[in-house]
Amino acid sequence: MIRSVVRGNGAALPRRIMKNADFEGMVETSDEWIVQRTGIRQRHVAADDETTASLGEAAARAALDSAGLTPADIDLIVLATSTPNNTFPATAVEIQNRLGMHHGFAFDMQAVCSGFVYAVATADLYIRGGLAKRVLVIGSETFSRILDWSDRSTCVLFGDGAGAVVLEAAKGAGNIADRGVLAASLRSDGVHKEKLFVDGGPSTTGTVGHLKMEGREVFKHAVGMITDVIEATFAEAGITAEDLDWFVPHQANKRIIDASAKKLGIAEEKVVVTVDLHGNTSAASVPLALSVAVADGRIKKGDLVLLEAMGGGFTWGAVLLRW
Ligand code: ACO
Repeated sequence: MIRSVVRGNGAALPRRIMKNADFEGMVETSDEWIVQRTGIRQRHVAADDETTASLGEAAARAALDSAGLTPADIDLIVLATSTPNNTFPATAVEIQNRLGMHHGFAFDMQAVCSGFVYAVATADLYIRGGLAKRVLVIGSETFSRILDWSDRSTCVLFGDGAGAVVLEAAKGAGNIADRGVLAASLRSDGVHKEKLFVDGGPSTTGTVGHLKMEGREVFKHAVGMITDVIEATFAEAGITAEDLDWFVPHQANKRIIDASAKKLGIAEEKVVVTVDLHGNTSAASVPLALSVAVADGRIKKGDLVLLEAMGGGFTWGAVLLRW
């Protein structure tokens, strides 16, 4: 059977780092509160010349370099983002143009923090369905543009950045020893919209709007939703937590990551945590975490890796793959 195998990956971060202490004086908060409640110590914030398209392009180029490929080798770009450069066209098409790519096709995917997990699952179906052979899957966000910088309950939580992988069609035996995407489970439920949303949009206010979140409500649902979808993925693949080499969760809050890993029985040393470095970068968080764990030598070819995310909508999902 055809498998979608990771051939390369990359990341890009804005130049400016904002430490927790930099918020003191802007809003009533402290480094101690932010670290204790979230695990976040710093985040990158985009300058005017750094956009979702420019960060996405840089991450894509890094992923292509690591794969030993050029844009000519790619036939589809899927960009997960909730902070596009324009309402339309899709920022994926802008990245396609920035890469000098005038063949193939590109589109955006909107599932907020679950965007990258949705995009990997989608790209896998395009590859297995025969519509594409090599896909650039990118998560790129500039959440700093949709934050209310006077709201301490949200502005300290998010950051900007981008990450990407190149998925390539390869023959597999059809079992769990194959490299590539092995199983996926996606969910959404719009009943939760008011708990995490942006209060603007082209069809309602005609404005971009600001992020609104009932943090405690999101927290309450997060662990249960995450573990449900991961257990479904384990069942589909016929594995248990013990078979995993690495757990790469969405990086929103260290307490959510710890509680999910504990409930699933995933050992602490198998959990990749980068929320301290990047904050919550929404659809970029999982590929950014992947880039850190690949660069420092933790994730290696042949490792069994579980990706997971949960975000606005609510949306949530998991992807199991062998690196
Ligand atoms: N500094 C200091 N105090 C603060 C801050 C701050 N930055 N923000 C809020 N507080 C205060 C609150 O006002 C509240 O004060 P009060 O008790 O006087 O009312 C107190 O701290 C406690 O607030 P809680 O909201 O109960 O704090 P909690 O422990 O729940 O932590 C947090 C808040 C970090 C937001 C947490 O709820 C959380 O992480 N939620 C989940 C967020 C998430 O996972 N999102 C994922 C999806 S993101 C996406 O899809 C875009």
